[in-house]
Amino acid sequence: MAKNPYGSGDSKWFTQDRFGMFIHWGIYAAAARHEWVKTREQMSTADYQKYFDNFNPDMYDPKEWARAAKNAGMKYFVITTKHHDGFCLWDSKHTDYKAPNTPYGKDLIKPLVKAFRDEGLRCGFYYSLIDWHHPQYIVDKQHPMRDNQEERKANSKRDQKKYAAYMRDQVGELLTNYGDIDILWFDFSYPGEDGKGHEDWESEKLIKHVRKLRPSILVDNRLDLPGAGDFITPEQVQPQGWVMDEEGKPALWEACQTFSGSWGYYRDEESWKSVKLLLSMLIDTVSKGGNLLLNVGPTARGNIDYRAMDRLGGMGEWMKYNSRSIYGCTASEFTPPADCRYTQNGNRLYLHLMNYPFRYIHLDGLDDKVAYAQFLHDASEVKIIPKPAVEPGSASHCAARRTADQLVLEIPPKQPPVEIPVIELILK
Ligand code: GLC
Repeated sequence: MAKNPYGSGDSKWFTQDRFGMFIHWGIYAAAARHEWVKTREQMSTADYQKYFDNFNPDMYDPKEWARAAKNAGMKYFVITTKHHDGFCLWDSKHTDYKAPNTPYGKDLIKPLVKAFRDEGLRCGFYYSLIDWHHPQYIVDKQHPMRDNQEERKANSKRDQKKYAAYMRDQVGELLTNYGDIDILWFDFSYPGEDGKGHEDWESEKLIKHVRKLRPSILVDNRLDLPGAGDFITPEQVQPQGWVMDEEGKPALWEACQTFSGSWGYYRDEESWKSVKLLLSMLIDTVSKGGNLLLNVGPTARGNIDYRAMDRLGGMGEWMKYNSRSIYGCTASEFTPPADCRYTQNGNRLYLHLMNYPFRYIHLDGLDDKVAYAQFLHDASEVKIIPKPAVEPGSASHCAARRTADQLVLEIPPKQPPVEIPVIELILK
């Protein structure tokens, strides 16, 4: 990654941990139809007030969330302290639009941070640059009031600089009142006509403020300020290979993904991904040198949706036996066979069988390089078919048809009871 003129955060733990939980939570959970509901439906602040007035997550138990994340194999989390609707989950001195003023009456962030830390997870804060509530925020093309001429006219009286100062104040609170925060996740810029970018956010002042308060924090790349971010954030896509920075060098990156297409709780959304697909996304990400931040959108009562709990449980079952191919692993120099992915950690090369093949696997470039092979989930030996010529017509003769640099493994015809089996290859 290119040198960062504003300083760089500590990425050592990040590339070790690989898998985190994104949490999108706010009063939009009550609407239960996407966190962008205010602007999608062009609601005024008065229309939107009902979600604030009725927000009372009586079942909120962050210890349960932390356990669910930990059991899924996640090592850190990132929570929306404020999303685009401007609602703040913590007790900010700089606004009344915050959880302590809803019927719930309390700071939601403090107990959350404690619960996750108690489970040994690292802590990240998402902070929305966009704010559809703040009175000084210039109404633009994404704002709920974009088609309201009165509100557009009122822009001449608004001072976006005051909003930028408000952000610095709030970020200051978040970085001083909750202990050591490891990630700050700003979201997002859309420069150009009727949009917003680094000048509107005063990104340079903001990043300097952040680095002064917490030099080792990792910051994402959405401030629209080249060199101000530590990591790149592909969203709802699986990149084709290792993600590169502006200079074409391999970057630190983290894919963010949803279970079902929405970030906030969406009651009627039906496109939930299977455990197998989610695991494939995690493996694919690490095989390309990245991290996966997988999102849950808790309900307005404070629960993680049963569908999300089901997927987290399924992933956890796999991670319990196979996480060695994820933590501390990265892309490999070797090219895997079709329908497979490699991850690597030193002399351990992990072959993920995304689609269980029949009997033989031919591995390019690994001839003579593997000392031992075993399934990861039960440490049972996987046979390496020896190279010398064998009886014509025999099964091993078929397997022996290989190019000079190939290694051939023989696997049982029946897939072991593992969603995606992993073969651990111990390199010489
Ligand atoms: C987007 C959306 C948002 C979500 C975020 C997560 O940019 O605006 O709702 O929080 O992506 O990456």
